[in-house]
Amino acid sequence: MKSGTFFVLFFILPVATEAGFWDIFDMFNKDDDLLSFNSKDLENDLRKSLFGQHIAVDTVLKAVSWFMRETDPPKALVLSIHGQTGVGKNYITKIIARNIYKLGLKSNHVHTFISGYHFPHEEMAEMYELQLRQWIHGNVSNFPRSMFIFDEMHPRLIDTIKPFLDYTDNIDGVSFNKAIFIFLSHTGEHIIGNVTLDFWRRGCNREEIQIQSEGMETQIFEYLFNDKNNGFWHSSLINQHLIDHYIPFLPLELKHVHQCVMAEMGHLNMTQDYDLAYKVAKDMPFFPEEEKVFAVKGCKTVRQKMVLYLKLQ
Ligand SMILES: Nc1ncnc2c1ncn2[C@@H]1O[C@H](COP(=O)(O)OP(=O)(O)OP(=O)(O)O)[C@@H](O)[C@H]1O
Ligand SMILES: [Mg+2]
Repeated sequence: MKSGTFFVLFFILPVATEAGFWDIFDMFNKDDDLLSFNSKDLENDLRKSLFGQHIAVDTVLKAVSWFMRETDPPKALVLSIHGQTGVGKNYITKIIARNIYKLGLKSNHVHTFISGYHFPHEEMAEMYELQLRQWIHGNVSNFPRSMFIFDEMHPRLIDTIKPFLDYTDNIDGVSFNKAIFIFLSHTGEHIIGNVTLDFWRRGCNREEIQIQSEGMETQIFEYLFNDKNNGFWHSSLINQHLIDHYIPFLPLELKHVHQCVMAEMGHLNMTQDYDLAYKVAKDMPFFPEEEKVFAVKGCKTVRQKMVLYLKLQ
């Protein structure tokens, strides 16, 4: 890794504290390589694990499968994922990662940046820019099929990342055309919410919603373009067509939260109790006020809610 000690400390230490020393120890000892990519496995995983997100399932399946199959893609794959809290934005990155890397999200080749955590101080933006550039360059030079996830991108850092997303042959001898960049954001959630609610009110099937329904995709990037907080970084990406896919995550309905509770029971090795799962799901808050169709927190606090219904042994 071409990086200075401070740089290593800056990024590795927080990760080490978060993951635990033994996880880090494991990461360096296990075989941390690529899986042999199989689009059927990705499809099965997406369809089985991710509820209520047919646009995301289709788009991610096609985009990632095509990208993984190409021997010499023209540029890095860039996905911009939008939606309200708890609808599966981080979760889909986990699904993608576990279908590409043997260690999934724990792979050394997957790098997640959380804006408020990794880049907290405005006055240190210049240093972050330099470190981020070196980090991306160093890691891709070491392992071209690296994945970078930005959870709520910091506006100042986009110029740093932009060259890596572009149609450039190489930057200082390194090609970025096998790397994957994923941006997660709440931006545009109200547009996605309105379109989904409109479909529901008209009695239309949710699965009929497409990325361009009621101009959703255009509305999202117009919003990104004009929003003062996000426009700065998004506008240059939009202008230069560097984002390959905008992926709206729809708000989740009761039946999806119910599926999340059932899945959670499975993860906890509990007997899956349909009625109990229904009670737990029903107990979550829903919006809008009159119709109460969509879960305010999506599936985010399902596990905590479930604990309240369990009998202590
Ligand atoms: N659509 C979904 N299908 C299946 N499980 C889901 C879905 N959405 C959320 N979950 C469950 O809820 C958990 C929290 O979701 P996740 O972290 O992906 O939310 P998010 O969209 O990133 O929210 P936030 O914007 O608050 O970060 C996931 O780990 C997963 O277990
Ligand atoms: Mg998230």
